[in-house]
Amino acid sequence: MGSAPPWTAAGTRVAFLLLLFLLAVPWLGGAATAQQAAGGYRVVSVAGAGGLLSARLELAGEDGHKAELGPDVQNLSLTARQLDVLWAGLETDNRLHVRITDADHPRWEVPQDVIPRKAPSDIVLDAGTGASPISRVLSAATSDLTFTLHASPFRFTVSRRSTGDVLFDTSQALVFKDRYLELTTALPAGRASLYGLGEHTKRTFRLQRNDTFTLWNADIAASNVDLNLYGSHPFYLDVRSASPGGAGAGAGAAHGVLLLNSNGMDIEYGGSYLTYKVIGGVLDFYFFAGPAPLDVVDQYTQLIGRPTPMPYWSFGFHQCRYGYKNLADLEGVVAGYAKARIPLEVMWTDIDYMDAFKDFTLDPVNFPAGPMRQFVDRLHRNGQKYVVIIDPGINVNETYGTYVRGMQQDVFLKRNGSNYLGKVWPGYVYFPDFLNPRAAAFWAREIALFRRTLPVDGLWIDMNEISNFIDPPPMNALDDPPYRINNSGVHRPINNKTVPASAVLYGGVREYDAHNLYGFLEARATHDALLADTGRRPFVLSRSTFVGSGRYTAHWTGDNMATWDDLRYSINTMLSFGLFGIPMVGADICGFGGNTTEELCSRWIQLGAFYPFARDHSAIGTVRRELYLWESVARSARKALGLRYRLLPYMYTLMHEAHTTGAPIARPLFFCYPKDVSTYGVDRQFLLGRGVLVSPVLEPGATTVDAYFPAGRWFSLFDYSLAVATATGKRVTLLAPADTVNVHVAGGTILPLQLPGLTTSRARQTVFHLLVALGEDGSASGELFLDDGESPEMAGPRGKWALVRFSCATGRGGVTVRSRVVHNSYGPSRKLVIGKVVFLGLHSPSPPREFAVYVNGVRTANSTGSAQGHGYRRSEALGAAQVAGLSLP
Ligand code: NOJ
Repeated sequence: MGSAPPWTAAGTRVAFLLLLFLLAVPWLGGAATAQQAAGGYRVVSVAGAGGLLSARLELAGEDGHKAELGPDVQNLSLTARQLDVLWAGLETDNRLHVRITDADHPRWEVPQDVIPRKAPSDIVLDAGTGASPISRVLSAATSDLTFTLHASPFRFTVSRRSTGDVLFDTSQALVFKDRYLELTTALPAGRASLYGLGEHTKRTFRLQRNDTFTLWNADIAASNVDLNLYGSHPFYLDVRSASPGGAGAGAGAAHGVLLLNSNGMDIEYGGSYLTYKVIGGVLDFYFFAGPAPLDVVDQYTQLIGRPTPMPYWSFGFHQCRYGYKNLADLEGVVAGYAKARIPLEVMWTDIDYMDAFKDFTLDPVNFPAGPMRQFVDRLHRNGQKYVVIIDPGINVNETYGTYVRGMQQDVFLKRNGSNYLGKVWPGYVYFPDFLNPRAAAFWAREIALFRRTLPVDGLWIDMNEISNFIDPPPMNALDDPPYRINNSGVHRPINNKTVPASAVLYGGVREYDAHNLYGFLEARATHDALLADTGRRPFVLSRSTFVGSGRYTAHWTGDNMATWDDLRYSINTMLSFGLFGIPMVGADICGFGGNTTEELCSRWIQLGAFYPFARDHSAIGTVRRELYLWESVARSARKALGLRYRLLPYMYTLMHEAHTTGAPIARPLFFCYPKDVSTYGVDRQFLLGRGVLVSPVLEPGATTVDAYFPAGRWFSLFDYSLAVATATGKRVTLLAPADTVNVHVAGGTILPLQLPGLTTSRARQTVFHLLVALGEDGSASGELFLDDGESPEMAGPRGKWALVRFSCATGRGGVTVRSRVVHNSYGPSRKLVIGKVVFLGLHSPSPPREFAVYVNGVRTANSTGSAQGHGYRRSEALGAAQVAGLSLP
């Protein structure tokens, strides 16, 4: 088959491309006309320089493809770029950008201020001078991704240069119409494990063949598996089990793929292929080279924005319920936790506190302003916090100040020139159009005004898909496009229970295109409003999210049910949001809908205590499920939350890692063990960071749990015993009596710990200690991030913070722990002391006699310790020392 020569925008082919460009010879492929695709496109011209390639495509054949979905776009332009030059001047050569759009007409694209980027169309093809980014690629050419353009039929592939593995291959004919775009990539079935694409509740974390992902933000309860839910994240991570020819060679290399598109879509995964069926916008693909899974999320969040830092307090335990009756009810709950000695950091209130469900008001009878203010002040005096819900719909009511001001400022989204009238809890409402800068200013002012009455510490933004109780038939053709995505699992029109697609947003933007951005935009406005009003680090919890929402908000998984299935599936959603750059995530502990049971609630807090965001929440009319209500649940809570609070310094350090590198706080096992293919399907366990493995009970009646342990040594975090030592990875049945969750630390890890407390501020007052879990080679490492926990920036250039790295080595003379302060601009008011260093896994039969602690290279005077009789299984060296400069250990 005499196919046309492929072009490659990488490596050895760049010189060829440059030559091609310099000669300014648009290529008109002779072979192209000979090989028409059935439908699809062919390449009619190509130009390129360095890491940039651009091509013009023309519809192949007369009649195109899928005529029932509308006429095909005749001419397309394709741009592929290897080197991305971000606004800040940052460069990355581990990202490939491929964009296909209508060559003759502009189309909707995700706005620049949602995901700031340089559109390839802005780049003029130019050979470049020494100063241009393009010429730099010529000399660098370090990318591991190779883009190859095949002329006729048009097709492109993305390969990993180092292994030759084809990562993406648009094997089927491309379809490009006004309201229907279709593109398929072939995948090596059996070798590719895919994760991501959401938001969906899935039975497994790894994608299963015949999974379809509909992305159209909707108020559909999370208890529905495989339906489109609240957020849209067209991003997946693909880890390959081995490279094509080699047994095991290249195993564990991961890459990521983002389709940056906000329109509704179905994504069908068939095991050997993935098909995108999108109802608008452009095909804007980003490929992230990895190869480690952590590299992929690093590269991904470099594009979409790093997760916003969460305040230290938000890592405490949260209690909420839809249906708290009045202030006395709230007070009773706070007292119930205190009495039961279960940590309670944050008390929440759902829509019940509002006057007739109107945002920024208080029910004068049940939640009166004065006593509510005193309640919040009391919480604050006790080191606790208070968060309330707000919804986007503003009640249409001339006596309601927020409405009147919104009307005066003309901030609501429109249809046919008038404000669109929806219906939510308060009755008829208008929705702020957060694309409109005036709406963000209005929102900020309302939040600031409300906070004068009630100084809430964070805001919970719900119903922002947008949820609308009005459910009319399609209002015009936009609501029912030629291709019906599988909305709600039954191909419902896209206006179903939301704002009609024909509504118009600021700047003439159609709801049809921007629908999936609403939650993102509201989260940004809310985050910025809190920041402006408090000057402190905002805490926002949003139900609806889009690519990049992690820059502003945390997320909970929405309306689950109090079932064992939903307990289990919460791990899948939590891990997916880690991939999406929203690491602060958790599910409603004990289940939202339905009546929970004592046993389920007990097992749920054992798991939920290790969600990054740990909140108990329930629906109105269901049985109460505060953790102190059953003694067995209270016991589980004290034990699991006790460990969580000990781990707070570690979890907060993971927040710093997430904020600076995008690394999820809760991670799938393969993130840390990508070469171990047995980890690829594990979704009943997860890691916090790289060192802590959580293996919860997820079945009723179970008193054991089957857990997988990757290679290494694993010590119980409850009794410090060595639970498993394996050279290859091993399945182990662990005991899990009713009040027990299994949590292990990996050998090789140093965990910074503190003592538990009923609030995070009290836990933060306690002495630190280091838990040094030695690997087989006698070494371990870890780090600790410190700041005040609430300054807006985390680890910013002007901020006050410290980062301490710990390492441990075992030699003939004994065990040496070193701490090195790598950054210190933090000046805490009191000395931070590491009072104790505990070693796990010292070699028996003769554990070392000498324990040395070095702080910034200087041996501390009082750092001798002793191994206390537990030999190999458990050894402790006690010592106290102070770190110069940082005053830590
Ligand atoms: C829907 C939310 O998902 C849920 O958490 C909340 O309790 C209700 N709305 C009432 O506000």
